[in-house]
Amino acid sequence: MIKLKLNGVSKAYGATKALSQANLDIEAGEVHVLMGSNGSGKSTLSKIVAGSVKPDSGEILLDGQPITITGPQSARSHGIAIFYQELSLAAHRTVAENISLANLPSRAGILVDQETLEERAQHYVTLFDGVTGDGFSLDAVIQDLRADQRQLVEIMKTLSTEASVIIFDEATSALDRAQVDRFFEILRTLKQQGRSIIFISHRMDEIFAIGDRVTIIRDGKIVGTKRIADTNPAEIITMMVGSHDEAGAKPAGHSAPTGAVASALSVQNLTGRGFKDISFTVRKGEILGFGGLHGQGQSAVLRALFGAIPPTSGKIDLDGKPLDPANPRQTIRHGVAYVSGDRAREGVITGRPILENVMPIHYLRDRMKLAHPVVSAGKALPALQALRTKFAGLGFPISSLSGGNQQKVVIARWLIDRPAVLLLDDPTKGIDLSAKTDLFALIRKLAEEGMGIVLYASEDAELLDNADRILVFNGGSIRRELTGAERTRYNLYQAAYEAA
Ligand SMILES: Nc1ncnc2c1ncn2[C@@H]1O[C@H](COP(=O)(O)OP(=O)(O)OP(=O)(O)O)[C@@H](O)[C@H]1O
Ligand SMILES: [Mg+2]
Repeated sequence: MIKLKLNGVSKAYGATKALSQANLDIEAGEVHVLMGSNGSGKSTLSKIVAGSVKPDSGEILLDGQPITITGPQSARSHGIAIFYQELSLAAHRTVAENISLANLPSRAGILVDQETLEERAQHYVTLFDGVTGDGFSLDAVIQDLRADQRQLVEIMKTLSTEASVIIFDEATSALDRAQVDRFFEILRTLKQQGRSIIFISHRMDEIFAIGDRVTIIRDGKIVGTKRIADTNPAEIITMMVGSHDEAGAKPAGHSAPTGAVASALSVQNLTGRGFKDISFTVRKGEILGFGGLHGQGQSAVLRALFGAIPPTSGKIDLDGKPLDPANPRQTIRHGVAYVSGDRAREGVITGRPILENVMPIHYLRDRMKLAHPVVSAGKALPALQALRTKFAGLGFPISSLSGGNQQKVVIARWLIDRPAVLLLDDPTKGIDLSAKTDLFALIRKLAEEGMGIVLYASEDAELLDNADRILVFNGGSIRRELTGAERTRYNLYQAAYEAA
């Protein structure tokens, strides 16, 4: 019996077609998996069904009847609940309060009845007895809990709605094996009760363990639906990628330097928070790519190399000499540069002029000798111009620039004194296409001049188009190295989605 049906549902964010004409059937009593790479539209579809995103067009039917979902409350009244990928917990409130927050029991309509609240919450906490870990209790405050424990609370909160259609959008990403096993037992019970589960995960093993059917979504379009019993990981990956040929050996247009080229950076058995036993070499003149799903250790390794969060063990050689990543100041002076795509958090110095935003690294490398503004400008201008940065004057505040131009300023600060190694941590986040093109042309030029470059890009196309070699990260380790004609989307996905 079809419980929920989507007919031609679409949603665009500006020029981004997050979801195009989606058709989908969810049966009663099934676990229906949604599978697709980062940014393919899974959360958009989920949020539309859960009422937190309004579709541009299309129709949703529940038990064969068209329904209008005007918001989250309206979805709930139709018996639809969602586990939010980004979680929806109140950080300063307790576990019990969060679980019951969705429909707070109240006395006289206003006061929260503490006893009923705890009783209700207890039931859902008990379901996870033995796997909640240290420090977990009904009155623990959310912000004191670990990531996996918070994810469990969001699961409990979702379960407490007793909804008949429940969406779990990456509910297991922080859970350990025992927690996932328990969660799956609960899902099987829900299935037996005839509830419909939409289940999103990037873990191939989970999908085969719990799914009844899987729908693959690519670039906002539904590609197809398969019975789990009739498919296999290779077929699913092929559907996610397109065809083999489409993904096929696309030459990056550059041949990687080969043979006796000296190494710019060499890393051995680097271990730290979020990554384990990482070993690789970046040659001078090479763009080495880091690939894989978000958050598999790529950024953590780059930040460790830069000295932002030092590794716990391992060996780093820069230009053949040992480097101690104890602090960023030292690594900068030795010629390591780090550019993050997260401008707001670790890039621009807000409220200060463009000139001051270009100069800090030079000052640091030059041991803080203050230069005359004219001398500074003479150094800043060529670096900004090399990136074709658009700005009215060096004295203008950094905030007067567009996001892409702000990012160019952040990169320009590294170009005054050429670093030996440039670490790029998803550097194009939020910048437009032409700025991206400029940026990658410049990165290639810097490589050709002999710099060693490491590029982590969350967009697969950026990686496949620009990296000479790709290391695929999965679960904090390097799972595979792709060189030459192996650099295909298919191989990238296969290594990224393999059980970690
Ligand atoms: N609020 C928003 N504003 C602008 N663009 C958005 C917004 N939410 C999503 N998008 C864009 O819509 C597309 C689909 O995003 P969505 O979050 O649905 O992907 P997803 O499949 O859930 O990815 P992931 O696996 O990374 O969670 C992406 O290109 C994303 O950048
Ligand atoms: Mg998502």
